[in-house]
Amino acid sequence: MKVAIKDIRDVDYAADALILPVCEGEGAAPYKAIDSLLNGLISKVVASGEFEGKSDQITLLHTVNRIRPRRILLAGLGKKSELTKEKLRQAGGRAFGQLYVAGCKDIAVSGRHVLALRHSPAFIIEGGLLSLYKMGRYRREVDRKKGINKVALICRNDKALTASMRWIVSTTSAVNFAKDLINTPSNDMTPSVLAKTARTLSGGRVSVKVLERGDAEREGMGAFLSVARGSKEPPKFIVLRYNGGRGAPVAIIGKSITFDSGGISIKPSEGMEKMKYDMAGGAVVLAVIKAASEAKLPVNILGVLPATENLPGGSASKPGDIVTSMSGKTIEIINTDAEGRLVLADAIGYVKKMKPEVIIDIATLTGACSVALGNEAIGMMGNNDDWMDRLKTAGEETYERVWQMPLYEEYMEYIKSDLADIKNSGGRNGSFVTAGYFLKEFAGDAPWVHLDIAGTAWTDKDKPYTPKGATGIGVRLLLNLFKEMK
Ligand code: BES
Ligand code: MN
Ligand code: ZN
Repeated sequence: MKVAIKDIRDVDYAADALILPVCEGEGAAPYKAIDSLLNGLISKVVASGEFEGKSDQITLLHTVNRIRPRRILLAGLGKKSELTKEKLRQAGGRAFGQLYVAGCKDIAVSGRHVLALRHSPAFIIEGGLLSLYKMGRYRREVDRKKGINKVALICRNDKALTASMRWIVSTTSAVNFAKDLINTPSNDMTPSVLAKTARTLSGGRVSVKVLERGDAEREGMGAFLSVARGSKEPPKFIVLRYNGGRGAPVAIIGKSITFDSGGISIKPSEGMEKMKYDMAGGAVVLAVIKAASEAKLPVNILGVLPATENLPGGSASKPGDIVTSMSGKTIEIINTDAEGRLVLADAIGYVKKMKPEVIIDIATLTGACSVALGNEAIGMMGNNDDWMDRLKTAGEETYERVWQMPLYEEYMEYIKSDLADIKNSGGRNGSFVTAGYFLKEFAGDAPWVHLDIAGTAWTDKDKPYTPKGATGIGVRLLLNLFKEMK
């Protein structure tokens, strides 16, 4: 995909289509010159009532050689007073989607009007690029004739716009990278494949180390290894470092269960195929490190992916088993389907030794998270208000919104074990927060934030700029957080 900024007149740029963003009720006013070259075509469409500029409206028109763009696409932005970055992304998603269907390859976005409204037109491109994601790997018949491969933003250029366009190109491609990993079924996305993918990122300021089963045993990762017992696929504890700055690293841990059947506490078969996305957190960590190193962010990142399958089997962990985590804490496994917190407990234990500035874990941890928040917000818990505030800000900026849940000390009662130091399930009541509380016990006094993406990492329906399937949520959020660190 070629993406460029062109500082020329809209009507002079030859493209298959030119997107014209319009607010509600503006009519042809922002594009008078084009309208008159087109003999009042835009005014006529507006007068007919077909296009009012509402935020879900788009109208495609052919320009029959009167201007160099072969088509124009009126893209509604909704009310001027309610214009946001997110509205621009959504309009971009809808517009690019329509042009893809029309078979356009080379498209342009008219940026001057949005700029005059004091918004960055780059967000239209962001939504547009995200909407074009396709998982092509498993289709024998791909429509090779279709596909947008060239995008131009027509706008007055300056350093800030160039920088934000660069950022958008690298972050959206990181999102697509994560989506590919998450959408790949578990037979092709084993812990070994994840480790191999991590290794492809090494070089420059990125180094990768993979702990094998024996290494994990020597480290005392009894919680992590207990989840791997039922599978023939060897577990991999993947560690990446990106050295872009000075000082203590920020640690990001991504839950990487490449398939979660529940284990002996097996899940119902309906919908179980979706449990390939239980490694979404790990994919986010890889994508963040990839984009951070491409953008040369001045930060140090320690990325960890505790990767394994969770399957039943002759040697699988059983309810009632007690295992010893890296921290020394013993855990009674009440439910083998509460495996995420087990692998995260040892990952937290591992990164704590490096004295990180903060530990952020990102995980498809609980079904209860989607029950509580639906598909609209990431569930957040933690022991550090400063980092949680920064994540809230990053969430508003990227629209990968987070919502904080409490970690009252009373929740400890829920996960007290009769035999061990702690148990891995506190039952149905409060299971969203007791999962977080379990992790808090392992974080101890290290600054730590937990992000539960169970409800948001996957979408069953197409959204304006997110096609159904993996969403890659967390990638833009964490990159935005790290971009603001100096
Ligand atoms: N991976 C699941 C959580 C999940 C469910 C993610 C649905 C995405 C969609 C997790 O390992 C799990 O099974 N959690 C259990 C915990 C329970 C046994 C305490 C749950 O939420 O039911
Ligand atoms: Mn589970
Ligand atoms: Zn799981």
